Amino acid sequence: MFDVETIRSQFPSLNLTDDGKPRVYLDGPAGTQVPQSVINAVANCYIHSNANLGGDFTTSIGAQGIVDSARSALADLMGTDDPETVVLGPSMTALTKQIAQALPAILKPGTSIILSRMEHDANVSPWLRMAKQHGLDVKWLDVDPGSYTLDLSTLKGHFEDGAGFVAVGYASNVLGTINPVSDICAMAKDYGALSYVDAVHYAPHGSIDIAAVGCDMLVCSVYKFFGPHCAALYVQPDLLDALDGAPLRPAPQHGPSKFESGTMNHEGLAGSAAAVDYIASLGDTSQSSRREQLLSAFKDIEAYESTLCWRLIDGLNAIPGIKVQGITDPRMNTQRAPTVSFTHEALAADKIAAALSAENIFSWAGHSYAIEPLGQLGLLETGGVLRLGIAHYNTAAEIDKTLDVLSQRLD
Ligand SMILES: Cc1ncc(COP(=O)(O)O)c(C=O)c1O
Repeated sequence: MFDVETIRSQFPSLNLTDDGKPRVYLDGPAGTQVPQSVINAVANCYIHSNANLGGDFTTSIGAQGIVDSARSALADLMGTDDPETVVLGPSMTALTKQIAQALPAILKPGTSIILSRMEHDANVSPWLRMAKQHGLDVKWLDVDPGSYTLDLSTLKGHFEDGAGFVAVGYASNVLGTINPVSDICAMAKDYGALSYVDAVHYAPHGSIDIAAVGCDMLVCSVYKFFGPHCAALYVQPDLLDALDGAPLRPAPQHGPSKFESGTMNHEGLAGSAAAVDYIASLGDTSQSSRREQLLSAFKDIEAYESTLCWRLIDGLNAIPGIKVQGITDPRMNTQRAPTVSFTHEALAADKIAAALSAENIFSWAGHSYAIEPLGQLGLLETGGVLRLGIAHYNTAAEIDKTLDVLSQRLD
């Protein structure tokens, strides 16, 4: 059984109050809170293994152990059994920029690229820059404003016209929509095109299975799933070989480390492995492997978060003047993450965020870098949306409190 109180007791920050008001963290899509085990892992790195890699002494050997453990933990999280396909890095944006630099050398001359308008800008700007620098045509997949889903009617045509690459998000960080990434990657493969999946928003909410997604690359950020500010990128092995990571000369010219420039954030990587272990600990610990534990944990997380999500959507729909900007049909439950954005007919999002903040409820107002989707919905000029992001540590009481504050303030 999913016991949210036991879960919450593991997160020191969840029990804090300010002026007697408990903190309500609905800001998870911009970064989640961390459990004590992650904090301990970061501190232990500084105490026991604070050294650079490559030395024949205790702390350096310990630091190498941390890097190796982070790589295999993140491989388990993404569902690949080969940790050598996992590039570690500081952020999704930094990793994506590196791939955007390396990719043109292996794309067919004259190819075009497909981008989606469902994206966080980190899965748009690096590719637009790449396209501009190398004279590549950009084809777009639009968001259907009626259904808040990706319009895939043009996808096949783009591939037929010679697109050699597609970048798409697993789930939208403002609308919450989960995209049919495996269908998109399967079509890319049929046409010999490469695929890049931004799983940053999806990763805290559901299990990822690289083979099932069928992508060539997939990226996620650990601070969105209860860990430090680090990121991981899966690259399909042949592609990893083919890409030039431009490493420093003595560094290996093969494997994931060719994209790992300079000395890495070992303390963050220690916390990253601990974050994956934390999620696994929520699963069925009688399962023999961490991967199986993760799968069972995410099953429970999905079911629990979905209950809170529909409680929130139903409550928002009942408040006059509010329009939920995202899927509101419960039959489309599997197509949405528990991130709920809305607008109000009279009050701008930043004013609503301020009203929530006065009650110590943390939310985000504006575009949250989802420039393309909010542009398509005509919401950029009007101050964007108010975003409430549910994580597995939130409670029904927090949702009800948020709805109470909103109905009083927006009345
Ligand atoms: C969907 C999505 N993609 C990419 C990013 C960028 O991630 P990072 O901060 O690791 O660069 C974010 C951050 O909010 C995000 O929500």
